[in-house]
Amino acid sequence: MKVEDVKKICVMGAGLMGNGIAQVCAQAGYEVTMRDIEDRFVENGLNTIKKNLSRGVTKGKMTQEQMNQVVNRIKGTTDLKAAAFNADVVIEAIIENRDLKRKVFEELDEICKPECIFASNTSSISITDMASATKRPEKFIGMHFFNPVPVMRLVEIIKGYDTSEETYEFIDELSKKLGKETVLVNEAPGFAVNRLLLPFLLEAIFTLQEGVTTVEDLDKAISLGLNHPMGPLTLLDFVGLDTALFIADYMYSEFQDSKYRAPTLLRKMVRAGHFGRKSGKGFYDYTKKPPEPHQFR
Ligand code: CAA
Ligand code: NAD
Repeated sequence: MKVEDVKKICVMGAGLMGNGIAQVCAQAGYEVTMRDIEDRFVENGLNTIKKNLSRGVTKGKMTQEQMNQVVNRIKGTTDLKAAAFNADVVIEAIIENRDLKRKVFEELDEICKPECIFASNTSSISITDMASATKRPEKFIGMHFFNPVPVMRLVEIIKGYDTSEETYEFIDELSKKLGKETVLVNEAPGFAVNRLLLPFLLEAIFTLQEGVTTVEDLDKAISLGLNHPMGPLTLLDFVGLDTALFIADYMYSEFQDSKYRAPTLLRKMVRAGHFGRKSGKGFYDYTKKPPEPHQFR
C-alpha cells in the first residue's frame, strides 16, 4: 500500500495518546475512527480534541469552519468491527499491557483487510512479540508518538524482527504527512527515548522518597537548573503514573537492571489510584489549582 492511497485510519484507545493521534490524523485530512471500550472514554477523548482545536481557533491558527471539518472526520465508537472495517492503517494506543495488546491485535487481524498496516504506539513493549500475535508480522511496526501528540514533533519508528522495509518506508512517510520528524530505532525495550527518560524519572521519585527534597523544589531545580520545560514530577503526572509504572515494570523484566526498578512510592500511588493529571491527583493535586508546566520559568 502507498501513503497516497490511505483514506481511513483506525486509532485504538481514546486516552491521552489515542485522542492526540486521532486529532493529528484528522488534521492531516484522513477519515479517523477512534475506538475505546466505554462510551465515557470515547466522549472524553472527543471532548479533549474539541478543546484543543478550539484553542487553535481562539489563537487564530484555524477557522471555526476548519475545526468543524477536522471534528467531522473523527468518528468515536466502542464497536471494534465498525472502527476497524476497511481501515488502511491501525494505530494502537491502548494501555501499556503486553497481553491485552496481543489480544487486541489478534482480534484486529481477523477483522482488518490483509493489506492494512498495524502500528503500535507502545512506550516499551517488544514489537516482535505483538506482531507474533498476528499473521502479518511484516506489516507490523512501532510508531511511538510523544505526549502531547499535537505539539511534540517526534515519532520513533521501531522495526520488529519481521517488519518489512516497505512497511518502514510507509510509516516514515505517513509520520511526515502528520507533520512529524522521525527516527528509526532498532527494537530494544523502551526503544531510545524511554531508555534514557525512565531512569531519570524513576530517580526523581527515589530522590523524593528518600527525603532529599520536596516535590516543588525538585521540579524547580530541574526546570531552572537544566532548563527542562517541566520538572520530572510534573512530567510524571502528565504522562500518567500508571503508564510510567507499566513501562518501568516491563523494562525491568526485560533488562533485569536496577536502573528500571520502580520505587515503592510510585507503586503505592498507583495502587491508591493516584495516576496524575488524568485522575486528579498525583504528585500534585489537580482538583485544586493545577500547576502550570512553566510555573518555574
Ligand atoms: N495538548 C495539546 N496541545 C497542548 C497541550 C496539550 N496537553 N498542552 C499545551 N499545548 C499546546 C498549546 O496550545 C500551545 O500551542 P501553540 O504553540 O500552538 O499556541 C503549545 O502547546 C505550548 O503550550 P503552552 O504555551 O501553554 O505551555 P508550554 O510552553 O509550557 O508547553 C508543553 C507545554 C509543550 C507540554 C511543555 O511543557 C513540554 O514540552 N513539556 C514536556 C513534554 C514532554 O517531555 N513530553 C514527552 C513525555 S514522554 C513520552 O511522551 C513518551 C512515553 O512513552 C511516556
Ligand atoms: P490512557 O490510560 O490515557 O489511555 C488508554 C486508553 O485505552 C483508555 O482510555 C482505555 O480505556 C483504553 N483501552 C483499554 N483497552 C482497550 C481496548 N481493548 N480497545 C480500545 N481501547 C482500550 O493511556 P495513554 O497515556 O494514552 O497510553 C496509551 C499507550 O500509549 C500506551 O501504550 C502508552 O505506553 C503509550 N504512550 C504513552 C505516553 C504518555 O505520555 N502517556 C507517551 C507515548 C506513548
